[in-house]
Amino acid sequence: MQVLPVISAKGGVGKTTVAANLSTTLAELGRRVLAIDLDPQSALRLHLAPEPASQRGGLASVMRRERNWRDAMVHGRQGVLLLPFGDLDDDGLISLEQHLAGHPNWLGELLASFSLPDDTLVIVDTPPGPSVYLQQVLRLSRINIVPLLADAGSVAAAPLLEQRVARYCVPRADFIGNAYVLNQTDPGRRLNHDVQKLLRQKLGDEVLGTVHLDPAVSEALASALPVRQYAPWSQSAQDFADCAAHLLRRLAPVSAPASQAMRQR
Ligand SMILES: Nc1ncnc2c1ncn2[C@@H]1O[C@H](COP(=O)(O)OP(=O)(O)O)[C@@H](O)[C@H]1O
Ligand SMILES: [Mg+2]
Repeated sequence: MQVLPVISAKGGVGKTTVAANLSTTLAELGRRVLAIDLDPQSALRLHLAPEPASQRGGLASVMRRERNWRDAMVHGRQGVLLLPFGDLDDDGLISLEQHLAGHPNWLGELLASFSLPDDTLVIVDTPPGPSVYLQQVLRLSRINIVPLLADAGSVAAAPLLEQRVARYCVPRADFIGNAYVLNQTDPGRRLNHDVQKLLRQKLGDEVLGTVHLDPAVSEALASALPVRQYAPWSQSAQDFADCAAHLLRRLAPVSAPASQAMRQR
């Protein structure tokens, strides 16, 4: 099982969009995908399983002891299995967050109890910035997927995440690294172009790819469809395919002959 949190210091940068579209694109490539919504906004289901029933289930329904975990999951677009966040009132949220603060391995134990096949990719949407949800998932991640806008605000907020990644991920031998998705790129805007160039220089190999600013992205959400289904020939559909392929390459273990060949060079 490979846990891939989608994280960012700021809101509105495309976490949920990237989580949903990478999930469906990876499923399209034949991978088994469980998408988990760890954000109380509960927006991942709008992309993956918009039926009202999915909002009544999810993590919240388990916390309210109305369902067991298996029944709390729903079948989403492209065969993605979705655990929505669901609907928790303020008291429910406070007690969930207190529980998470006192049980740092809650998510790890939960995932272990699902007995998922080893090759399952678990994509986890998170709320922006530091939170108990972020702490839980960073303790398990193989690769952090980090959507980033090419603007000064995103660059300034980046250290908030770097501290947490340094604490919860970097010391673990199974952590591969961060994978940045430069989102809403617009080659026609000079500043966007320049900041993007700077980010690429700074982040190097850790850039997974770019997703262009594309009206197909918000239109697809309005139709509750993955971009690749809504507009298969759009720029962003191609971008998500490129990012998913690159992600799979980063996850693939370096085979022994290949690593030997690299050492010999
Ligand atoms: N590449 C893109 N092109 C156009 N609109 C986008 C793109 N990525 C995200 N959006 C829009 O930006 C808004 C915020 O995206 P969202 O995924 O909800 O961000 P977050 O989860 O980080 O708060 C949404 O309205 C979404 O449709
Ligand atoms: Mg979101």
